[in-house]
Amino acid sequence: TASLPRRFLTSDQGTFGAYTASVRWPIIVQNIIDDLLKEVDTLNDDEIINQGKIIEEQLAAFRLEIINDAKLRKFTAEECEIASVPLTFNKYLDEHSGATWLNAEWLFTEIYLYRRVNVIFRLQSSKHWKSFDCFNGLKQSTFQASCHGVAELAIRYQNLLPQLEKSNHDEEVLKLLFQEFIEISLWGNATDLSLLTNATLEDIKSIQGQKAREESESKILINDTEKAWNQLIKSGNKSGKRVDFVLDNSGFELYADLMLAAFLLQSKLASECVFHAKDTPYMVSDTMIKDFFILLNDLTDPSFFSISDKNSTESKALNSFASDIRAFYDKEMITFEDSEFWTTDLDYWNIDGDSPILKELQKSDLVIFKGDLNYRKLTGDRTWSRTTPWAQAIGPLSSNGVVSLSLRTCKADVQVGLPAGLDENLTKQWEVDHPGQGSWWTCSGKWAVICFAASH
Ligand code: F6P
Ligand code: MG
Repeated sequence: TASLPRRFLTSDQGTFGAYTASVRWPIIVQNIIDDLLKEVDTLNDDEIINQGKIIEEQLAAFRLEIINDAKLRKFTAEECEIASVPLTFNKYLDEHSGATWLNAEWLFTEIYLYRRVNVIFRLQSSKHWKSFDCFNGLKQSTFQASCHGVAELAIRYQNLLPQLEKSNHDEEVLKLLFQEFIEISLWGNATDLSLLTNATLEDIKSIQGQKAREESESKILINDTEKAWNQLIKSGNKSGKRVDFVLDNSGFELYADLMLAAFLLQSKLASECVFHAKDTPYMVSDTMIKDFFILLNDLTDPSFFSISDKNSTESKALNSFASDIRAFYDKEMITFEDSEFWTTDLDYWNIDGDSPILKELQKSDLVIFKGDLNYRKLTGDRTWSRTTPWAQAIGPLSSNGVVSLSLRTCKADVQVGLPAGLDENLTKQWEVDHPGQGSWWTCSGKWAVICFAASH
């Protein structure tokens, strides 16, 4: 549509997107090379080692393409076939033939980067490299480092079950718990995990608990949790309510999302949670289905979080959470799917018309979109004014029968839905410690938004 604002470009001077393209992307590719070399060191099959070296060379050349601002090239027919590259990429590149790494739409270029990396691995003949997750090492070590938050939340979960029993499905109590677990899932997306609190039901109700929540709540600039709650309650006594999660990162965030799912299932607010994962390694830490099984193993592997005492509170709490999740999975109350749509370059304005994804999401009573990239795709990563109403910024999804809730800690330039004056205030505030970068408060991960939409 002619009236839509254009998308952010990697050439938009002074934006976080331009910084990401010129500074962060070469580092990300270098990190892949470093981790690849570590992997090669562990191998003893000559053929696989050789292929590893070919991958290394190709990644090094690829890194230079970015640094030297090369043209974004189309995927070859061979690449498309062997690595199952969705056709949308070349279609886009046909329509944007002048695009170069540092002068192109940020959203497309970032997604294209991860696809190019994936193709380099998939083009090798050995199964080892075809299915290799070049981010696995980083995903695992980061999860390991969140040991403290993981144990704290597991203990929180253990307290939940008696709380639910005592509450006797009292709506006021359930609503407070819903808010708490939504916030756990929300802040699971932040790098700063210190905002999570281990609140008991007493705490939640006590002034102190309220205070603690209010503290993190003041960083939630838009909070539509109550609308989502009302919608979930409204769809009523209907048994078999379904909540979908369009997942973001594996590790701690996935763990927090499973925590929210477990709450919804235990409280019977939902009877089914459908998790949408990625079909390729993506955006460094995004969840693939195999990451779910790795996470379950990590939780129950005493050496992973180095909790030596099997009878410790932490160890018991981790095991009981993991076994509840496994039981939900076995009963198909938690299911996973990984449609290729989520790793194409298409934004979510494309979830419309006869899109199979639309048909799927329409079956859900609530679709939770996790994290920053999903927010960028929902809004098309466009240069909207920051006061643009949410429903306008997400286009078709606000009116085509999907009930959605976006849980986003702000990590990019695009920002909508703010009340008048707030952006100016926060820009001034951020400017104090970040001269010349005031508008980057939306890229800092320090603030968050919770945005709801449903068809009228
Ligand atoms: O590289 C930038 C980016 O794509 C931003 O959107 C965001 O900062 C990050 O990577 C991904 O964040 P998330 O995992 O929350 O989608
Ligand atoms: Mg991510």
